Amino acid sequence: MSNFLPTAPYRGTRDFLPAEMSVRTQVFHALYEVIERYGYGRYDGPILEPVEMYEAKSSREIVEQQLYTMTDRGGRRLALRPEMTPSVARIIAGNAGSLQFPVRWYSHPNCHRYERPQRGRVREHWQVNVDVFGSDSAAAEIEFFELIHDMMAGLGATPDMWVLRVNDRVLLDSMLTDVVGVPAEQVRAVSGLVDRWEKYGADKLAEDAAEIGVSDKQFARLGEVLAAGTAVLDEIPDEAKAQSRLVEVLRDSAASELITYDPLIVRGFDYYTSTVFEVFDQHPDNRRSLFGGGRYENLVGLYSAQRIPGFGFGMGDVTLFDFLDTHGLTPEPRSDVDVVVIPLAEELFGVARRVARSTRAAGVRATTPLDLRKLGKEIQRAVKSGAFAVVIVGPDEVNDGQVIVRDLATGDQRNLEIDRVGPAVAEMRDTHGK
Ligand code: HAM
Repeated sequence: MSNFLPTAPYRGTRDFLPAEMSVRTQVFHALYEVIERYGYGRYDGPILEPVEMYEAKSSREIVEQQLYTMTDRGGRRLALRPEMTPSVARIIAGNAGSLQFPVRWYSHPNCHRYERPQRGRVREHWQVNVDVFGSDSAAAEIEFFELIHDMMAGLGATPDMWVLRVNDRVLLDSMLTDVVGVPAEQVRAVSGLVDRWEKYGADKLAEDAAEIGVSDKQFARLGEVLAAGTAVLDEIPDEAKAQSRLVEVLRDSAASELITYDPLIVRGFDYYTSTVFEVFDQHPDNRRSLFGGGRYENLVGLYSAQRIPGFGFGMGDVTLFDFLDTHGLTPEPRSDVDVVVIPLAEELFGVARRVARSTRAAGVRATTPLDLRKLGKEIQRAVKSGAFAVVIVGPDEVNDGQVIVRDLATGDQRNLEIDRVGPAVAEMRDTHGK
């Protein structure tokens, strides 16, 4: 048995080396750019929150099975945030007096859930959250659907690669009570069945349905209406439809093209009150949702008397990279360095550092070796690190106030005055398109 501690990270968490971080940064920056174009400002909050925030209103699965909890030295029960929505509701309530509504905010927290790690599911994931607070208008729905399309386009995805499936819990409740005939007190339990419908199929759910008191006739009817797609809307009473922003969106011909109405979308959180949606990859390898979100009209109400409806979504990094990899959209990592300044003798390290500093002052990323190596080795290392040029600091050239600049792509090299190196490599970088 080895005496060393394991190097692998805790199960379900990941280390990100610079090459991977470079890819992630490019992808996330593409998303931030689109989100900021819609006027959303970035916020953040603590990773530790009081457990009560999740117990008050979240999802039973998260609270009962997935929370990482701890007790601090003062006896307070805390949790690693499993999601950002309770935190943002708390922050909005606490700062409502100084905010101008509607508030458009986004964040990119890491979230922890104790899950069985599997494709698309880990124990620490990052989630781009985008939320709007203080509006009841269906214009918020349309803004989000447009934003989602722009975010996906910003990643290079075309509309055939993914689908935005939308439902409304008001319509779902009405469908269950008015169309299927489920008694009001069973609606929540039957919604849970609908939530599991796609994953398990009707046959496997028949027993669960009988257990919660759904009759065979109701169960058969439920199967029919869930398969009916948009046609089920014709059967839902007008009073329910009048409350639904989704119905308003579907009447807007341009907006309706952005989404697919889907009576199977439920979402597992207690706090959603009306519109709910999920984005799915169309590729069969990736069955889990890329994003999920919806309207939560009463969550901020846990923290304040002021009524502040919220609406938003969370997009997870794991499913996002599965999507990008599957569709060949993952960018290449960028190199960390442009130029390596190589001294040919110990006494030239000082000059090399001076050249590197002037290179950095020109906005070009430069390193110098920390130990003396043979020039050939050093050039190989520079090529491997992705640099586009090396500056060779040799004794004869330095005596003349010069160094050698070599383009690593073409092999061309020339002597330059030391103080001209910065501007010259900046120009080279522009021609290399870095
Ligand atoms: P959620 O559906 O639980 O919603 O998570 C949103 C997204 O985060 C999922 O679609 C998935 O991509 C990712 N995700 C969730 N759990 C994991 C996990 N264990 N491993 C990997 N990825 C995961 C929420 O969390 C809501 N708070 C979103 C929201 C924001 N609603 C309104 N605003």
